[in-house]
Amino acid sequence: MRGFVKRALEKISKLDSEQIEQLLQAVAEENERLAVVLDSMNDGVLVTDPEHRLQLVNKAAERLIPLAPGRIIGDRFIWDIIGDDDIAGFVQETLSRDDTVTDREFTLDHGGVTRILSCSILPLVQAGHIRGSILQLVDISEKRGREARLRRAESLASLTTLAAGVAHEIKNPLGSIGIHAQLIEKAVSGLDGEDLETVRGYLEVIGEEIERLNRIVVDFLFAVRPMDTKLESGDLNQLAEDLLGFVRYELEQAGIEVVKDLDPALPEVKLDARYFKQALLNIVKNAIHAMPEGGMLRVSTQTRGDEVLLRVSDNGVGMSEEVMDKIFEPYFTTRDFGSGIGLTLVYKVVKEHLGDISVISRERYGSTFTITLPVPQREQHLITWDGEEER
Ligand SMILES: Nc1ncnc2c1ncn2[C@@H]1O[C@H](COP(=O)(O)OP(=O)(O)O)[C@@H](O)[C@H]1O
Ligand SMILES: [Mg+2]
Repeated sequence: MRGFVKRALEKISKLDSEQIEQLLQAVAEENERLAVVLDSMNDGVLVTDPEHRLQLVNKAAERLIPLAPGRIIGDRFIWDIIGDDDIAGFVQETLSRDDTVTDREFTLDHGGVTRILSCSILPLVQAGHIRGSILQLVDISEKRGREARLRRAESLASLTTLAAGVAHEIKNPLGSIGIHAQLIEKAVSGLDGEDLETVRGYLEVIGEEIERLNRIVVDFLFAVRPMDTKLESGDLNQLAEDLLGFVRYELEQAGIEVVKDLDPALPEVKLDARYFKQALLNIVKNAIHAMPEGGMLRVSTQTRGDEVLLRVSDNGVGMSEEVMDKIFEPYFTTRDFGSGIGLTLVYKVVKEHLGDISVISRERYGSTFTITLPVPQREQHLITWDGEEER
């Protein structure tokens, strides 16, 4: 208890009504201030009494997890109020065991966005007694995204070095094998009919295999070599609209509803429309594949500081952590007839645009791909009054 309140309480019988009013006023202000602090935090906080009934919840918590509407403080168990089964189960189990848990991670969808939350349950200790529990929620999606990006950049860098070696190691002998196959064909042309046909059959197989290997090498090099992108100011909203128009029929056929949420005040960014459309198309196609029974595709743009964000979300099959770690690697695919090159190209195109891409996904719930692009410095900053250029 605050010192001044304690002192005031000790002599409360001697206080006149004006002094009591002042005291109440001070306590109310103090309360208000604490509430504002709690509501200004980025982390979600939920507090329970010792019987695990919700006592207090801050704004960030309401933003981060689904909470039952019309809840009455002190009326229900905290796990009955949390709308996510995994988190509710975890909270119930931990609290029933009177346990303390820090940094348990959950992936969840809330308000159309997939997030990774780190949850901690701590005892609320006051004057040596346990007065309840605190559930703390920290949104670690961005942090996870950064870590994954770093890993990816490292693996891409080592792949580029590998590429030169692969090209030499495979392309040269392939060329030589091709030439020798042709020589054999010539050399056996004197054979009689049946033998000639047999040898021709073998040579055909060799030719096809050479072609297949060649394709693999060419694709691989395409994935790791620099591109000839030409960046020009462009409207990302328009590009998204164009692309969605382009695949409208396919989406309709697949029973997929499209929800667009495009920021009308989005600044222009530097784009190579040709490549960027291809990248967006690859993401949308993957989303279509992920929703074989139909579903919802959400495409949104947003300005954040000096970046613009383009998000593509689906409520399809989602991916496990293991799959998510590999999706940008060349040839990684979980589809029977997939090439595994789609997202490698997406990653490359985004990098050529000096942007970033991250993904958050949850099995059975869906996936969200987020591309961030830098907003170029406005030219107008360079011009001062009188038309003179700034140094
Ligand atoms: N929206 C999505 N939902 C679920 N899984 C996805 C999604 N997008 C990509 N993936 C996973 O990433 C893998 C690689 O994608 P990609 O590089 O486009 O190759 P491909 O589509 O040929 O398999 C896919 O096989 C799939 O497992
Ligand atoms: Mg694909």
